[in-house]
Amino acid sequence: MRAVPPSAGTAAAALPLDERVAAFAAEVVRPLAPEMARGGVRHAGELIAEAGRRGIAGLLTPATFGGQDAGHVAFARAVEAVARECASSAVIYDVHVSVASEPFARFGEEEQKRRYLSRLATGEWLGAFALSEAGSGSDAASLATRAVRDGDGYVLDGTKMWITNAGEADLYLVMARTGDPGARGISAFLVEAAWPGVRTSRPLRKLGLRGSSTAELVLDSVRVPAANRVGAEGTGFRLAMAALDSGRIGISAQATGIAQGALEAAADHLRRLGLDLPDAALLDEGAAAATPAAASRLAGMAAQVAAARAVTLHAAALCDEGVPFTREAAVAKLMSTDACVAVAHAAVELCAPHSRDDAHPAAVRLRDAKACQIYEGTNQIQRLVIARELLRG
Ligand code: CAA
Repeated sequence: MRAVPPSAGTAAAALPLDERVAAFAAEVVRPLAPEMARGGVRHAGELIAEAGRRGIAGLLTPATFGGQDAGHVAFARAVEAVARECASSAVIYDVHVSVASEPFARFGEEEQKRRYLSRLATGEWLGAFALSEAGSGSDAASLATRAVRDGDGYVLDGTKMWITNAGEADLYLVMARTGDPGARGISAFLVEAAWPGVRTSRPLRKLGLRGSSTAELVLDSVRVPAANRVGAEGTGFRLAMAALDSGRIGISAQATGIAQGALEAAADHLRRLGLDLPDAALLDEGAAAATPAAASRLAGMAAQVAAARAVTLHAAALCDEGVPFTREAAVAKLMSTDACVAVAHAAVELCAPHSRDDAHPAAVRLRDAKACQIYEGTNQIQRLVIARELLRG
């Protein structure tokens, strides 16, 4: 089993951000990609530790807590660059930087940030976000995990489902019910993986993203100090929704990167075939049909990738400006993940018959693409969010 290559050390951390990200993608993520695509390997902790050494594990965390405070545009570019090489690595990285770290950077107490956030931002610890349950995926406000007040803490009981980085994470941001049914009865807690009563199932076997662990998180009478509650009681759902608003920009960026990788696989294939393009004179004579169908298709794919990137960066820029971006994040997630599946599908067709191989870059991208339409809110949920925002006026 090949592990994450040895660090380029502090030299890498001294480069400008774009170059740090590019070097991480080329030197660390690319060599791991084939093994990640085959699955059965668990490198999430090492990957994030190396991202930390290279100064890119805390892009949405303030510098006071060891982060880079680089903003969502920079973060989206980083996730895209990683996803272009390996979608499994991208979701590990995205979840760690975004939904597992950003919410308590925004809503947490100083002491929580000192204690935990700096460990996440430097890559010492790997983070995960635990909202979904078997009975509450899309209807997140109906979650059943309970947190019962007991002296100076809480006792948590329940089972979280489909948790990215579960089993490898050191820290979980867990949503649990402290009050009545509905959104206002939910609170957020920081739960250490090493605490008694915390365990995870074997990772699920998935269609794609096979190098990223997705598993159940079981909380069996876990004692959590009150100091680890993030925000006031009853504010956990709003925290989770705010986290997902910006998290969805990360998934859009991941989808854009996967689509870019699929586009490049198709272009490489056509280049190897020596595809002949007509010159403009021929087109002037009305011979539009002289453009090979494969070239037209490739151009359409490139346009879809460019559109996915544009909507993603637009939502990211609004978020960085501090203006409302819920609708734009949902639009970006919807459009870029649909584009990602379409582009990866087209790449598989253009690269046939070679793309029937399980390990072909287009085949890997098509398998990886599908999850982007499902997690961090299915695309049906994105439509609901967009319509609600529109109708709210
Ligand atoms: N930001 C802040 N607060 C928000 C918000 C937002 N975007 N959206 C809603 N809220 C607040 C509301 O203002 C309301 O607050 P009050 O109670 O104070 O009035 C409260 O949340 C409840 O709002 P709604 O009544 O609108 O909530 P709802 O129950 O109708 O649900 C939903 C809305 C959009 C369908 C939501 O349940 C949802 O997003 N579901 C999808 C869940 C999801 O995305 N899960 C992803 C799991 S993580 C993951 O996938 C990570 C991974 O592995 C990669």
